[in-house]
Amino acid sequence: MAKLDNALSSLPPSLLALSALAIGSSTTLVVAILYRRFARRIPNGDWVTPDVLAGKRWIKGYVTNVGDNDNFRVYHTPAFGWRWPLKFRRIPTRRDKLQHQTIHIRIAGVDAPEGAHFGRPGQPYAPEALTWLKSQVEGKTVYCQLFRKDQYGRIVGSAYVPRALVPAWMSKGKNVSVEMLRAGWAVTYEQAGAEYGGLGKEAFLAIQAEAQKAKRGMWKNGVGAETPAEYKKRGASSDKAGEAESQADGQEAQRRPLWRRLFSRT
Ligand SMILES: *[C@@H]1O[C@H](CO)[C@@H](O)[C@H](O)[C@H]1NC(C)=O
Repeated sequence: MAKLDNALSSLPPSLLALSALAIGSSTTLVVAILYRRFARRIPNGDWVTPDVLAGKRWIKGYVTNVGDNDNFRVYHTPAFGWRWPLKFRRIPTRRDKLQHQTIHIRIAGVDAPEGAHFGRPGQPYAPEALTWLKSQVEGKTVYCQLFRKDQYGRIVGSAYVPRALVPAWMSKGKNVSVEMLRAGWAVTYEQAGAEYGGLGKEAFLAIQAEAQKAKRGMWKNGVGAETPAEYKKRGASSDKAGEAESQADGQEAQRRPLWRRLFSRT
């Protein structure tokens, strides 16, 4: 220590000040980078920028709501501080407090039966599929990997429900897409741009075939029913199913009070 003191006092003070400044600012930079990457909350889909998607970011979050059969809203809960014994951050519960504070996730690789939209009757088993998805994710902590944005601004990604007592670094848990297929409440998404990740499309189709053979979920009366893709296509001739969906989003936005629509930035 005395040696170090000697060495330091023999240096010119300006050099000392300069190196202290350099150490200080690089520490600040590192902290800022770490904060940005690991602790900053992503409030909603608008903040899921191309660089976040390019990195295929993983996020941890709490599912506040299951909207339709293959998508849900997740409140990003990064880093720590969200649960006992280190609880100093809180997930809002009121609807108005959650507005613009959740990320709309569309689970990748599968297609679930479509629910009723704007007078158009839904597909058979849509309510059952919705009930199933709610039972799996609603009110739970999930891990999602973000792949891309779809044409409705939702984030297409995978979702995993952690298993009790298994730490996240060992296993992310149950793959919601795969479990939904296995339970017979969804079919493999076969349109262009699908993401099957490591498992691959063949594996997805095999899991689906197994569910069909075992007559699980919507296959209980056998196969041959219209698939969600066919249903959407049939609707596309008169009014696009997609338009109906964005219309739904528009109506949701319009339910907001006027002053909020005028002043909110998102
Ligand atoms: C989990 O599902 C996603 C699609 O949501 C897929 O991309 C991925 O390969 C699956 N991973 C595993 C390990 O099953």
